Amino acid sequence: MELTLIRGDITEQQVDAIVNAANSSLMGGGGVDGAIHRRGGPEILQECRRLRAGQYGGGLPTGRAVATTACRLPARWVIHTVGPVYSRSEDRSELLASCHVESLRVADELGAASVAFPAISTGLYGWPVDDAARIALDAVRAADTSVREVRFVLFDAAAYAAFEACL
Ligand code: APR
Repeated sequence: MELTLIRGDITEQQVDAIVNAANSSLMGGGGVDGAIHRRGGPEILQECRRLRAGQYGGGLPTGRAVATTACRLPARWVIHTVGPVYSRSEDRSELLASCHVESLRVADELGAASVAFPAISTGLYGWPVDDAARIALDAVRAADTSVREVRFVLFDAAAYAAFEACL
């Protein structure tokens, strides 16, 4: 597996699937979630609504992943995953690792060869980016997947530096 870091906007990535840092409702939000829905178009939300009306009636649990179309984005699919909110008192590292492993599992089901991840949970969900980088890169490197290229798309210099330090 080729593992690369780039600074940029995940909505512009020419990969088979991009991963969305969603919330359990799958109804959109700010940050990555907002950018993907805004640029991807309403069809993404329509598919999310169908997921909520079906097997994800109670919402997508933290650490799990599910795919929809990417519609107007360069990618073919969006893999929505729900990161854990950072907690000082509770170690939720396994859930953050699971976001990456589950997203790669969904990518394998789709037959995606290239996948782009944002720095999940490091924005609104408050996870310190150096710790999140370690967890994310360790999880991806240890994953048993057929995905050939994993790209971490870092939106700012601090996140890029944190991931680079871990690579
Ligand atoms: N491309 C790549 N990375 C981005 C982009 C983008 N267009 N926009 C933001 N980021 C970065 C942020 O700088 C941060 O490093 O993605 C990382 C994750 O930040 P959030 O999007 O806030 O995601 P998260 O911390 O997982 O919080 C998820 O926020 O937007 C809501 O609905 C979402 O409730 C959910 C929560």
